[in-house]
Amino acid sequence: MTPEEFRRRGHELIERIAAYRETLVARPVRSAMAPGELRARLPASPPASPESFEALWRDLDELIVPGLTHWQHPRFCGYFPANAELSSVLGDLASSGFGVIGLSWQSSPALTELEEVVTDWLRQMLGLPVGWSGVLQDTASTCSLVALLCARERAGRFPAEGPGWQNGAPPLVVYHSEQAHSSVVKAALLAGFGRDHLRAIAVDADHALRADALAAEIARDRAAGRIPCAVVATTGTTATTALDPVAGIAALCAREGAWLHVDAAMAGAAMILPECRWMWRGVEGADSVVVNAHKWLGAVFDCSVYFVRDPALLVRVMSTSPSYLRTAVDGEVRNLRDWGIPLGRRFRALKLWFLLREQGVEGLARRLRRDLALAQSLVAEVAAARGAGWRLVAPVPLQTVCVRHEPPGLAGDALEAHTLAWVERVNASGAAFLTPALLGGRWMARVSLGGLETGPEDVRAVWAAMRAAAEA
Ligand SMILES: Cc1ncc(COP(=O)(O)O)c(C=O)c1O
Repeated sequence: MTPEEFRRRGHELIERIAAYRETLVARPVRSAMAPGELRARLPASPPASPESFEALWRDLDELIVPGLTHWQHPRFCGYFPANAELSSVLGDLASSGFGVIGLSWQSSPALTELEEVVTDWLRQMLGLPVGWSGVLQDTASTCSLVALLCARERAGRFPAEGPGWQNGAPPLVVYHSEQAHSSVVKAALLAGFGRDHLRAIAVDADHALRADALAAEIARDRAAGRIPCAVVATTGTTATTALDPVAGIAALCAREGAWLHVDAAMAGAAMILPECRWMWRGVEGADSVVVNAHKWLGAVFDCSVYFVRDPALLVRVMSTSPSYLRTAVDGEVRNLRDWGIPLGRRFRALKLWFLLREQGVEGLARRLRRDLALAQSLVAEVAAARGAGWRLVAPVPLQTVCVRHEPPGLAGDALEAHTLAWVERVNASGAAFLTPALLGGRWMARVSLGGLETGPEDVRAVWAAMRAAAEA
């Protein structure tokens, strides 16, 4: 494709994306596509000769868009808000269009230095301490893996530089709450701790990690000769946005010499609001923090920001310096391949830079505050419908409202089936999209607000769809 053709088709594509966003509200939120349906409609082998862009556009409209669940629909309340702002889409397009790859500072100096600057802007916005450093990774899953690898190396006095884990040292243990994201368990398993050395700590009535239970588990492990290596605290759990007591956990970690990683993948965005900072009080005592800028903050996927207190340790664990990547300026610059797992990296900073410049901190804060208020408006509706069997099942500090409809006389398996059935009725109707989750072994519905275009009328419509589906 020549630059001239790119210009023409690119304009057409931008027009299509803009029209898609403008007409979203008229579409059913969840895709009605059946498993295997798209595969069956696509050719099994690649085109032998060039095809026209007209054919591509037609297939995009007729085959691909019907297979989308519309995350940017104002009544999409599943999973978490993400991937939204069009200014960030443009930043991502710029990254793809420039076609550079960060292998070293020299391979594209702007890629590295813009990343240093925007992650530091975000550090300031979040109120994280001066001296901490940020780096962009693909996902929170990767950040948690990197954190646990660093914790493992620090606790084991850098075994990777010698015998590895094959030297018969005492086992290292990782702790997280019962409500931690599955990626935390996955990271610990991938980092080699072994399931026997993972501790899912009990939670309190608000679904937050119990610091007393953590202290007791640590004491048990110490007594048995095992070493408490790392604790993952969550600010804003996936199911209910519960807030683990970071300050208390940090104090325990300091006493035990354990690494503290704070998973604020979803809720970290809200820490740009001074009135929300209490939610991770004590975070300055952490060793690492992850905030997914591609979630509620509005950046385009993938854009996880990994903050560390001690970048030298991160670099010690992650660095490689093959001859073909060495340069004369290595002593003066960051080589971001030494700040994470992959060698090559996209120019991810552009999508965050575009977002931050287009919105400003004020614009982002205004939207987040709007979403906090929308969540409270739904809380009020649910509370007012108590007589009809509606119940909030968790506190609502942020934008996720967790509910159950408990009609009189319904309990046990029948209630579980009712919950799953009415959520499915909402989703099948196309009026809204919710994702249910287990909480304490029982199903509940999560209404995760925060879509870019979600307003009070959308929240009212979602609530009406929920009531119609559950009370029918
Ligand atoms: C609290 C929390 N941590 C981690 C993750 C995983 O995020 P990622 O897809 O970036 O790995 C999620 C995703 O929902 C999450 O809510």
